[in-house]
Amino acid sequence: MNSARRAFAKALADIDVVIEVTDARLPGASSNPMIEELRRFRNRPCLKLLNKADLADPPVTREWIAHYSAQPGVRAVAISAKHPADVGRIPALAQQLAPHRSGAEKPLRMILAGIPNTGKSTLMNALIKRRVAKVGDEPAVTKSQQTLDLGPGMTLTDTPGLMWPKIEHDADGFMLAASHAIGRNAVIDEEVAAHLGAILLARYPALIEARYRIDVAGLDGESLLERIAQRRGCMRKGGEIDLEKAANVFLTDYRTGSLGHITLERPGERL
Ligand code: G4P
Repeated sequence: MNSARRAFAKALADIDVVIEVTDARLPGASSNPMIEELRRFRNRPCLKLLNKADLADPPVTREWIAHYSAQPGVRAVAISAKHPADVGRIPALAQQLAPHRSGAEKPLRMILAGIPNTGKSTLMNALIKRRVAKVGDEPAVTKSQQTLDLGPGMTLTDTPGLMWPKIEHDADGFMLAASHAIGRNAVIDEEVAAHLGAILLARYPALIEARYRIDVAGLDGESLLERIAQRRGCMRKGGEIDLEKAANVFLTDYRTGSLGHITLERPGERL
């Protein structure tokens, strides 16, 4: 954490625009306050990307964009790093934040930062249109710093070191784990799935009913997992309910977008 902080602070000295990648399904929990703190200290503008917008709930994404764009020095946009048209907008948006930097003499120097699994490698690959980084579903595959030419008058540096978020609230930890920003071994799937269940029962009960063809009245996170286990035949030998399997079914459905467009938090709630 400290070495990542030092490396990022050092790199910022020669950077014009910070591009922070967050997960549009949990923009607050997937932001690293350290990035915000250091870029403000250095007075660098930030292009805040709410990535994976294809999985998030569009009206809530718009609330987050308004929320972030009202902050000084921040421009927020929703993208999907998997959609070339979205990625193609990024250089021009970054340029608008540092209009004094352009051309070969004074190239626009950008840095890409964000917590693991928000889609930085995917975005980087799309930006340079060739694979330079391993894209994987286990967090933190990008480990070393590199600066790449993005064409005439633009460079992009990727985040030096790992940028794990400092998790101050348990709720953030569960949202991050559900969205796979925390490695598989770090948390217990059943517990994470039960927390995710509680959030979705409160926010998106109709999506759960439609996916599993169940009535959600009276259910909480744990009993939802039991119902999913029954519906999906998640049983151990001897007929006992396999909650671990049900948790995996549920988490995979959420992570792949099979449940529908979902955002786990709204801006006002973080206050
Ligand atoms: P990182 O460098 O920040 O750690 O993230 P990385 O690019 O490795 O992306 C993590 C996962 O998120 C990958 O999934 C990637 O495909 C997926 N991803 C990145 N951007 C988007 C997006 O805009 N929309 C969606 N739906 N997914 C995105 P993966 O599990 O490895 O699956 P795969 O798609 O590569 O098979």
